[in-house]
Amino acid sequence: MKPTSTDPLAGRSAEARAAATVFQPGVLAGKVALVTGGGTGIGAATARQLGRMGAEVVIASRKAANIEPAARGLSAELGREVLGVVADVRDRASVDALIAATLARFGRLDILVNNGGGQFLCPAEALSARGWDSVVATNLTGQWAVIQAAANAWMLANGGAIVNVTMLSRRGFPGMAHSVSARAGVEALSRTLAVEWASRGVRINCVAPGIVASSGMRNYPEGAVDVQTLARIIPMKRLGTAEEIAATIAFLASPAAAFLTGQTLTVDGGQSLWGDHWPIPDPEPLPHVELPREWWEEP
Ligand SMILES: NC(=O)c1ccc[n+]([C@@H]2O[C@H](COP(=O)([O-])OP(=O)(O)OC[C@H]3O[C@@H](n4cnc5c(N)ncnc54)[C@H](OP(=O)(O)O)[C@@H]3O)[C@@H](O)[C@H]2O)c1
Repeated sequence: MKPTSTDPLAGRSAEARAAATVFQPGVLAGKVALVTGGGTGIGAATARQLGRMGAEVVIASRKAANIEPAARGLSAELGREVLGVVADVRDRASVDALIAATLARFGRLDILVNNGGGQFLCPAEALSARGWDSVVATNLTGQWAVIQAAANAWMLANGGAIVNVTMLSRRGFPGMAHSVSARAGVEALSRTLAVEWASRGVRINCVAPGIVASSGMRNYPEGAVDVQTLARIIPMKRLGTAEEIAATIAFLASPAAAFLTGQTLTVDGGQSLWGDHWPIPDPEPLPHVELPREWWEEP
């Protein structure tokens, strides 16, 4: 069988990669987009994609060491200023300051991509209270804090599109009890806000990435996740790319998705339809199966 590369555009020039888009250049001209976690991985690819579609872009995360070089690099690539703001979604004052900085610089906020987040692998029984609280604070409460601040400061009065990055949550996600609970909460929150805010012109959707070959995979200790073998559990036999997740986020943020709200789009190469990555050994022997009868039936 023909081997599949992780990146379908591998080896192509920067120009060819930039051209590999279905989006009309300028379709987001005059719009302002805020991408949390926009200095790395999926967030940086999303900031680039939205910028190429014409939006003014703000990126934000905790570490200046992530945000400052990314803001410089994206500004150089797009030929206009991408504003980088150091902000922590777990801190309400920091979130309010981020929204205020966005409005002060660009005067509006049309698109919010809630992508900042993260977690660590841990069997549920070993999770500390601090570990659970911190993952929920980032991935559920933090996403809500940014949504609420953006909504109150701009979107409820002027409309907008929100895209929340979650994870595969329709099946269980062993090793990620904290994060999958938070992400499922964000998906339920999005379905709820989609209804509450529909008449205010605010659409809100989620993108649930499968396994993506991005900077985020470096956060797992060596040995905990073997990136080289993960393609085995994906029907397409390759990992996704940050650009492929960014393209789905950009679609949801764009006018092409104007009638789409409250949905979660899964972008996973078919992974959630198949396979398992948490082997559960079979007992020996497997339990005997007795087909039941009602008590009044003849044996
Ligand atoms: N890669 C995958 O396979 C995959 C699969 C499913 C879901 N996801 C999710 O997709 C999102 C992006 O992932 P990625 O692969 O691009 O990984 P990544 O590079 O680790 O991206 C996470 C980003 O979130 C920022 N961040 C973390 N905590 C934050 C906080 N409290 N406040 C503000 N920003 C914060 C980080 O920057 P700072 O450290 O500077 O704050 C970083 O830029 C994450 O939510 C991730 O969990 C990824």
